[in-house]
Amino acid sequence: MYIVLADGHEAGVVRLDVADAIGTVSIYLSPAWRGRGIGPSALAALESIAFGPLGLRRIEARVKADNGASLAAFQKAGFIAVASKPPVSLMKVRRED
Ligand SMILES: CC(C)(COP(=O)(O)OP(=O)(O)OC[C@H]1O[C@@H](n2cnc3c(N)ncnc32)[C@H](O)[C@@H]1OP(=O)(O)O)[C@@H](O)C(=O)NCCC(=O)NCCS
Repeated sequence: MYIVLADGHEAGVVRLDVADAIGTVSIYLSPAWRGRGIGPSALAALESIAFGPLGLRRIEARVKADNGASLAAFQKAGFIAVASKPPVSLMKVRRED
């Protein structure tokens, strides 16, 4: 679990459950901090940790099909929808240099 800091304030949490070098991501921002682009930034920061020091190969998320804000935030962070049946599965794979 990581605390999301925005301008030094605690804005929410991101969680990463790790199994077999794959991380499952979930995110929750407190209502006052939503709709300002913090979610995609927090997901990008989590990706840096996941693909960097944690050495994961893939990160995934499962989002309820009617959660448009969450789907938009994950897609802005570069996640790709891989299954459209509810809940929507999204993933991002580590780029090999
Ligand atoms: C989902 C969440 C992490 C997104 O983070 P955020 O910082 O609010 O994301 P953004 O600021 O990029 O805003 C979300 C985007 O979705 C859009 N959006 C908001 N509500 C929407 C809706 N009902 N349908 C479609 N898009 C919506 C916003 O307009 C924005 O898009 P835009 O920048 O192109 O206008 C955050 O809103 C949150 O914590 N929500 C409650 C918990 C939750 O649902 N977590 C995800 C569980 S999988």
